[in-house]
Amino acid sequence: MTTPVRIRPRRLRGTAPLRRLVAETRLSAADLVLPMFVKEGATEPVPVTSMPGVVQHTRDSLRKAAREAVEAGVGGLMLFAIPAHKDPVGEAATDPDGILNVAVADLVSEVGDATIVMADLCLDEFTDHGHCGVLTGDGRVDNDATLDRYARMAVALADAGTHMVGPSGMMDGQVAAIRAALDAAGHTDVSILAYAAKYASAFYGPFREAVDSSLTGDRKTYQMDPANTVEALREVRLDVAEGADIVMVKPAMAYLDIVRRAADDVDVPVAAYQVSGEYAMVEAAAARGWIERERAITETLTSIRRAGASIVLTYWAVEAARRLS
Ligand code: PBG
Repeated sequence: MTTPVRIRPRRLRGTAPLRRLVAETRLSAADLVLPMFVKEGATEPVPVTSMPGVVQHTRDSLRKAAREAVEAGVGGLMLFAIPAHKDPVGEAATDPDGILNVAVADLVSEVGDATIVMADLCLDEFTDHGHCGVLTGDGRVDNDATLDRYARMAVALADAGTHMVGPSGMMDGQVAAIRAALDAAGHTDVSILAYAAKYASAFYGPFREAVDSSLTGDRKTYQMDPANTVEALREVRLDVAEGADIVMVKPAMAYLDIVRRAADDVDVPVAAYQVSGEYAMVEAAAARGWIERERAITETLTSIRRAGASIVLTYWAVEAARRLS
């Protein structure tokens, strides 16, 4: 006979009610933010083939989808826009009549009292070269000239009614520049969700299709090297010091260690972005019957929350929110 077993962790796993009682991490609809795409001039929603179930919306279908997301209980909406015309400096981003700004105003009028309307603040959807900033004469991304554009874009978005801007360009000093511009324009209540530790990742692949990106090359001179942790913590602390209200780690699943370190390190909410490639991997494997789709979705979202993110951006936000309520 072996020694009698006195301590049995399995005891608390024996039934579904027991497992529910002792669960350490809970997901709720309010934690989830839905990224959405709107395409200027579109007359029908355009499916994004590499992201089954995701579309580039028309202005009308965007409103309708936003209404449904709010009814499902999601905590926020993060808007991206695809302009009809791109140029070297991304003029459409700062134009009050540009697609992102008018679509923000649409969302605010449709659901603005019931959820948080956020806008991605970056130039890559608006530039013909696809980079997140303006370029110098020799083709490098010009950090400080880009900050001026971001500042103007932030004010345009705030004028359109956005509650929160999400600077995602990884320029040095972007949070401080945006905070100063918003405050100078009287938009002290508009908050900043900073993409603080954003890695140069292969997992953004499907997003390039979602925004009709014209990028050739990569973003390695401004987005982070996947090898680095200490640098991520520095970026996170810098953004908090510059005035970020929420800091985000991106992508999520391959960077859960960074999410945990950030959550332990700072006293602002930490968000994580489950990006296009994470979505596409699960959808593609599930379509082949290789994994159970719903279980995989719940498991990834739970794990991101467990790692320390209180807010999760996910293309499954509406579906998951419905399941949770
Ligand atoms: C930049 C931006 C990107 C994503 C969000 N904001 C693209 C990039 O940095 O290359 C990617 C999101 C995703 O892959 O789901 N505007």
